Amino acid sequence: IVIYVPRDAAALAMDADAVARDIERIADQRGLPVQIVRNGSRGLLWLEPLVEIATPQGRVAYGPVQPEDVAGLFDAGWLAGDEHALRLGLTEAIPYLKHQERLTFARVGVTDPLSLQDYAAHGGLQGLKRALAMAPEQIVEELVASGLRGRGGAAFPTGIKWKTVAAAAASQKYIVCNADEGDSGTFADRLLMEGDPYVLIEGMTIAGLAVGATYGYIYVRSEYPQAIDTLEAAIARARSVGWLGGDVHGSGRRFDLEVRVGAGAYICGEETSLLESIEGKRGVVRAKPPLPAVSGLFGKPTVINNVISLATVPIILAKGAAYYRDYGVGRSHGTLPFQLAGNLKHGGLVEKAFGLTLRDLLYGFGGGSASGRPLRAVQVGGPLGAYLPESQWDVPLDYEAYVQISAMIGHGGLVAFDDTVDMARMARYAMEFCAIESCGKCTPCRIGSTRGVETLDKIAAGGPGREQQVHLLRDLCDTMLAGSLCALGGMAPYPVLSALNHFPQDFGIPSSQPA
Ligand code: NAI
Ligand code: SF4
Repeated sequence: IVIYVPRDAAALAMDADAVARDIERIADQRGLPVQIVRNGSRGLLWLEPLVEIATPQGRVAYGPVQPEDVAGLFDAGWLAGDEHALRLGLTEAIPYLKHQERLTFARVGVTDPLSLQDYAAHGGLQGLKRALAMAPEQIVEELVASGLRGRGGAAFPTGIKWKTVAAAAASQKYIVCNADEGDSGTFADRLLMEGDPYVLIEGMTIAGLAVGATYGYIYVRSEYPQAIDTLEAAIARARSVGWLGGDVHGSGRRFDLEVRVGAGAYICGEETSLLESIEGKRGVVRAKPPLPAVSGLFGKPTVINNVISLATVPIILAKGAAYYRDYGVGRSHGTLPFQLAGNLKHGGLVEKAFGLTLRDLLYGFGGGSASGRPLRAVQVGGPLGAYLPESQWDVPLDYEAYVQISAMIGHGGLVAFDDTVDMARMARYAMEFCAIESCGKCTPCRIGSTRGVETLDKIAAGGPGREQQVHLLRDLCDTMLAGSLCALGGMAPYPVLSALNHFPQDFGIPSSQPA
């Protein structure tokens, strides 16, 4: 009997190792033949550790399972999928999962992350097989036709980026994966790296074949030790079967890659400082142009893509561009793994085609607030994303529609707040975050963010000069938006201005629209 106990960091934080040990011990004591598979997380984080039993009807889920529950679960006959207070029914039938469209995350939580047999048995390597039979320019064309846009947040068309690198003439090119997932409320990259590392390696290998790059780097933040270990182990296994480290499966086309660990600076998620960091230098932003696609790592043409962009490449190659392109709305093709965090009853990962609304995510999946109080604001797209009031929760999640309301979908993370939130404090937090994480290269961000914190403090202190301080704050935000070298200083005004515009009462002013 196969029992699945996740080894994802979210499950480990909730005692999954102790649960796995207890299952093994009790099964042993009772002479029951069980095999424990340590899978990734299904992404239903409030149910972790979510333990599954393989039954003839399908996998049956129990959760959240704590070590003290294990003996009772055996007593209740869970190996046959029998009733228990923690029984959730067939995993695939849980509405939170059933209503998703899992393309990039198809295997996450399903397979043993390090088993190459499991990977191949669940559709893995099909994309690479097809790519090996194609000319490099055909692979690039397939990506362009799929409509995939950068999932790190900027939504630049991935195929066009690859085209630029493919067209650059150079003796050496690189594939760099940005796994420095620094946005608040985001965890899709981590969940994927821990739950299905081979799909990322496959995507990077295909990228290498497409643009003529033979070496890759995965730049992972040090705060993700499980992801780092999983990737290292997966790379070693891929080398042992002739996938990495020489000719890709005997094709005569080489590819290899390695993991580089970041040291915890938010700015190292910005592509050019990430490249500086890999080169062994301090993480400071480079001026663009030249784009990394033309002159990137060690001055060579470099594809730099987010984890989710690269991990989506294999399914596009395996099923064809049209299959992927048909999901979504407008120019937002395919699916996005949304990450539900903050004050929500059911936090977790929801992969859906673009076009659904924030309300669908907050209530249909998230179950409303965890506190039971009314929800009031949602920050979408990380610490540099706008705060959205309820009047905007019905706007379809579509890159262009969000630009229309001065917001951004970014990496798909959302953090919900109930009616006890003080939006003036959240605005201050955004400016303070920018001041702390600024790389210091340009003045609007380095100086502006510190002056912004001071101005917000003066507004909070009240008094007769408040209106003038608000005016000053808007002026400062304008300068940061227009004059910053990169997205940190250039986007920190979004949360500040959205808080000011949509929640003026929290700043002690009757209404505050831009002059
Ligand atoms: P960007 O718009 O400057 O560039 C997007 C990408 O397209 C870059 O890789 C750039 O090099 C490339 N590019 C642009 N024109 C090109 C061309 N003609 N040919 C080839 N490549 C081209 O945006 P940037 O600064 O890279 O990213 C900002 C975004 O990052 C924000 O929108 C934010 O959502 C996101 N972000 C994500 C975080 C995360 O943890 N995932 C953290 C912080 C920000
Ligand atoms: Fe550095 Fe901030 Fe300027 Fe970006 S905006 S280059 S983080 S100082």
